[in-house]
Amino acid sequence: MFKMKINRFWSMILTVFVVYLFVKIIIPAVSREITGLPFPLTVPGALVFIYMLLAIISIFLYVTFSDDILEEFLDPIKKFLRGDYGSTFRTVVLCGLPLFIGWQVYEVLVPKNELPSSLRIQHPSSNFPKSSEDLKNPFADPTDAEVNAFIEQAKANQVPFIPQLEADIGFWAEENSDSHMLSFIATKPMKEFLNEMKAEQINEETAKNALVEKNLFEGRALYAMNCRPCHGDSVSGDGPMADGFKLRPINFTDNGTIETIVEGYTFWRVANGGRGLPVEATPWDSAMPQWKLNLTEEQRWKIILAEYDLAEKTPRIPEVHK
Ligand code: HEC
Repeated sequence: MFKMKINRFWSMILTVFVVYLFVKIIIPAVSREITGLPFPLTVPGALVFIYMLLAIISIFLYVTFSDDILEEFLDPIKKFLRGDYGSTFRTVVLCGLPLFIGWQVYEVLVPKNELPSSLRIQHPSSNFPKSSEDLKNPFADPTDAEVNAFIEQAKANQVPFIPQLEADIGFWAEENSDSHMLSFIATKPMKEFLNEMKAEQINEETAKNALVEKNLFEGRALYAMNCRPCHGDSVSGDGPMADGFKLRPINFTDNGTIETIVEGYTFWRVANGGRGLPVEATPWDSAMPQWKLNLTEEQRWKIILAEYDLAEKTPRIPEVHK
């Protein structure tokens, strides 16, 4: 049988690389398969560091196990230092490596314009009304009656959308008069629902998913209209206005933000904005608007649905729901 043999030095480098890919890609992919969530669960940075350290320690033990292995491992390094691979290559690597490491150290150590975050509590609970704690997003889990009403509207090809979207959907429907208005939302759950409707075999579950998809669509549109300037397209707090604030808009993809709070808290927080925060959350003035003044409850819940979806996060489950 054909057997490929690569030098131990390169096989060790390859091992480190494979371990890294395993931790970064395979574990999240498998976790996604097991949990059935719509997004992978990433391995935390500190854990990646520990895994890599363990991998490197094991390689070190293996390589120093016998003189032969060590000799083979060191061979390419010695050749390189002797200039067997060409002296220009050696000069470039020997100059480049320290420069690269120096640059990394500089990047880590250079003082940045950051606020002393330890002085501020991001999620103060002192004035958060306990009654909001077990609120559930009604648009994430529509009732049977709502699903049935939706099916009827879909059959009649007259599904009401939020007023902000009506004009756009109207234009689209005019240009695509031969297709169903819901095919405007070209996602998988919606396509499945439209196919089932065509075949006159509507499954309640598919209809429910399609309704949630419609709610998400409206939520995304409302997010783009109201929240995007600060929180950004990618919901990572980097909208075009973000740099103008002393206290930066929150990055929702960050693990310590909307993922660690219950939905009811997010709802209350969006309603009351920065002004609703108690003393512990100051002295850094927050530009987060009080959305209860401009958006209805329905709009706020839809935005929150989209916000978690865009950030690929799920809210913390309140104790009472467990
Ligand atoms: C004018 C800029 C601005 C706009 C527009 C804005 N935000 Fe914010 N938002 C902020 C800032 C700044 C913070 C961080 C300070 C704070 O916690 O109040 C924040 C914080 C938040 C938080 C708190 C997250 C946490 O983990 O505590 C939520 C939730 C939030 N915003 C949602 C929204 C939603 C939803 C919209 C759109 C309806 C929106 N924001 C629009 C500036 C903005």
